[in-house]
Amino acid sequence: MVVNNFVVFEGGDGSGTTTQLELVRQRFEKEARERTLPLLWTTCEPTDSVIGALIHSALRGSITLRAETLARLFAADREEHLFAENGVKDRCSRGELVISDRYALSSLVYQGIDCGDALPKLLNEAFPAPELLFFFDIEPEIALGRIENRPVREIFEYLDFQVKVRERYKALLPWYEEQGTVIITVDAAKMPNVVVEDVWKELKNLPIMIKGSGAF
Ligand code: TMP
Repeated sequence: MVVNNFVVFEGGDGSGTTTQLELVRQRFEKEARERTLPLLWTTCEPTDSVIGALIHSALRGSITLRAETLARLFAADREEHLFAENGVKDRCSRGELVISDRYALSSLVYQGIDCGDALPKLLNEAFPAPELLFFFDIEPEIALGRIENRPVREIFEYLDFQVKVRERYKALLPWYEEQGTVIITVDAAKMPNVVVEDVWKELKNLPIMIKGSGAF
C-alpha cells in the first residue's frame, strides 16, 4: 500500500538529505507566494520524541545498545511518527504534503547490516510505502569527507559501513518500486543548490502539487 502525498529522502550519511530538506522547504515557501500549494510538513527519523532521543544517544555512543534493540527502537519511533494523531498518515490523508528525512528503508539498509535481514524486515513490513522516494547517491568517501569536521562522529559514520550502506540501498530500491513507490536517484555529489533543482523538478509534478490542497 502506498501513502499518497508522502515523500521520503534516503541516502548514506553525508549524502545531504537534511540539507536538501531545508532547501526544498525554502523553495516551497518561495513558490507558495506565487501560487496555491498544499500545506507542507517537513519531518525526520529518528524523530524528536523521547524514543528518538534514546536513539540519538545510541547513535552518538553515549549509551550502548544491542543492534536488535536499536532496530526495535527505530520501529517504535516510526510507529508513532506514522500513526499518532497528526502524524504522517493523518496529515497525508487530509491533503498535506509530508516530506521525511529517512523512513523504513533506512532500517532495512542500516539495521540489516548489523543484525541481518530478518528482524528489520519483520519490524517494518507493516509500514506503508511512500508515494515518492529520492535516493541521494554519492561515493561514500566524498560523503564522509563532508561530515568529518562534525564534533561528534556517530556509530555508522565510517567508510566500510557506508560502502555497505550504498550497496544495500541499490539492492533494496527495486523492492520498494514493486510496492508502487516512484524512485528517483539523484546525483548527490553535485552542489546542494543544483541538487535541489533536480528534486524540485520531480516534486512539482506530484498530483498534490498540481491540484493544490485536498485529500485524494
Ligand atoms: P541523520 O539524522 O544524520 O540522518 O542520522 C540518522 C542515523 O540513523 C543515520 O546514520 C542513519 C541511521 N538510521 C538507522 O540506522 N535506521 C533508521 O531506521 C533510521 C531512520 C536512521
